[in-house]
This record gives sequence, structure tokens and C-alpha cells, in this order.
Amino acid sequence: MPASPFHLGWFFSKGFGPKAWRHPWAGSAVDRFAKPDMAVDLARSMERAGFDYLMLEDSSNVPYTYQGSHDAYLRHSVDTPKLDPTVLAPFLTAATERLGIVVTCSTTEYHPFMLARKMNALDHVSDGRIGWNVVTGSNDGGAQNYGREKQYPHDERYDMADEFMEVAHRLWDSWEADAMVLDLDRGIFADGSKVHPIDFEGKYFKSRGPLSAPRSPQGSPVICQAGGSGRGRRFAAQWAETIIAMAATRRR
Ligand SMILES: Cc1cc2nc3c(=O)[nH]c(=O)nc-3n(C[C@H](O)[C@H](O)[C@H](O)COP(=O)(O)O)c2cc1C
Repeated sequence: MPASPFHLGWFFSKGFGPKAWRHPWAGSAVDRFAKPDMAVDLARSMERAGFDYLMLEDSSNVPYTYQGSHDAYLRHSVDTPKLDPTVLAPFLTAATERLGIVVTCSTTEYHPFMLARKMNALDHVSDGRIGWNVVTGSNDGGAQNYGREKQYPHDERYDMADEFMEVAHRLWDSWEADAMVLDLDRGIFADGSKVHPIDFEGKYFKSRGPLSAPRSPQGSPVICQAGGSGRGRRFAAQWAETIIAMAATRRR
């Protein structure tokens, strides 16, 4: 009987930042966390081991809830600091040949146009090896960095994310695959009849389009999701191509 194929992904917990401050096995190069080398080394190893993708976790605030202060988090490097994973991603794709790199970005921290454009560029430079872990934001500290007092209510975050995905996909589809002509003899760079404004106007977002760059190799990034609630799983079922979940605890 032929072996059935299966897929492997690796969750790069704590994102682009220090991994294990003062753990016995963490080594002494304590000042290298803001450089890509450790992640590059890991990505090469994952590729050699046959993994499909490496997923970069992210959150975007310095936590401050314990004793109302950020001091303990910073003193012990608990979930902080974290650099932008979309900056790390191209280093990893440049150092590998087949491995997919999935970056985490929140639908409450980007405008869909900005996110669609960033993913499109990452997909171009990586020759189609980019994925997006779609998160909706989780703590109020993160929301406060973007000018809001609190996160939007849980289920509404997913409603917004639904609309976000619709805008993003329309932008990714706004250039037909053969819109780029690149014909030096006829003097035609791109065919305007194959590039379409989207004129999107929804409840939460508005965007004229088209995207400001041609269709990327995959068209859109591979969509990854980890919603655990009923609403989150509905969202994942609608949009995701790969779903990550907590392993259930086995009862004895
Ligand atoms: C393996 C795994 C990885 C996750 N990575 C992130 C992450 O990088 N950033 C983030 O804000 N949330 C992350 N989450 C949280 C999920 O996006 C989601 O908010 C959480 O699973 C709760 O889902 P729910 O709101 O539908 O209950 C992760 C969840 C899991 C299970």
C-alpha cells in the first residue's frame, strides 16, 4: 500500500525576537535576537527536514497587565520584544528554495490595501512561497497602539475580518494574469483593459483599487488560520487553506 502523504508546519513561537532568555540551552549570543541568522538557520533545517512551512508568530505590544507594569515582561523577556515578521520573511525565503514562510498579520492593525500590497510584494520576491496567518488581534494593549481603547468585540472582529478578506482577495484579483505585456517592440508595458479598479465600499472598509502591483505568482498568499471559537472556526472554514489548532489534552 502506498504511504499516504502528510504535511508538516513549524510554529515559530515568540516571533521575530528573543526565544529563551536565560534558559540553559539558549546560548550566549543574547544580542542577536534582532538579526535574521538564527531564523535563517532554522528555516534551512526545516527545509532539509521536508517541512511545508514555517509560521512566524506575532503580536504588537509590550505587555503591561501583570501588576499594571511592563517591568516584569521586559526584565524577563516575556513575549517581548518582537520585531516585524514581514521584514524577516524575505531573509528566510532568500536562504531557502522550497519552504513556505507564513507571516502573522492582524486584520485590526492593517488596512486591507496595505496588507494586500505587502503580501503581493512578499509573494513576488519569494517566487510564490508566502502565507498569511490571519489573526484579528487579542489584547487591548495592542488595540491601544493603534489608537483604540479596547479591541473590537470578539465576534465583530471576525465580521470585520470577513470583509477584510473580501477586499484583499478582490485587490489580489484586480490584475488579470496576462495584464503584463512587456513587449519592447510594440512599446506596451501593461494592458490597462486587464487591470480593474474594485470600487469596494463595505461596512468597515473602502478601497478603490486596483492593487498597485501585478498579480503575484500564487495570486494570493496561502491563508492560514487558528480560530478556536465557533465564530473563529467558521471564519477559518470559509477562508483558510491551512488551519492550526491546539492539540486536545488526552484524558486518562
Ligand atoms: C498555534 C496557534 C498559533 C497562534 N498564533 C497567533 C499569533 O501569532 N498571533 C496572534 O495574535 N494570535 C495567534 N493565535 C491566536 C488565534 O489567532 C486565535 O485568536 C485564537 O486561537 C482564539 O481563537 P478564537 O478567538 O476564535 O477563540 C494562535 C493560535 C494558535 C492555536
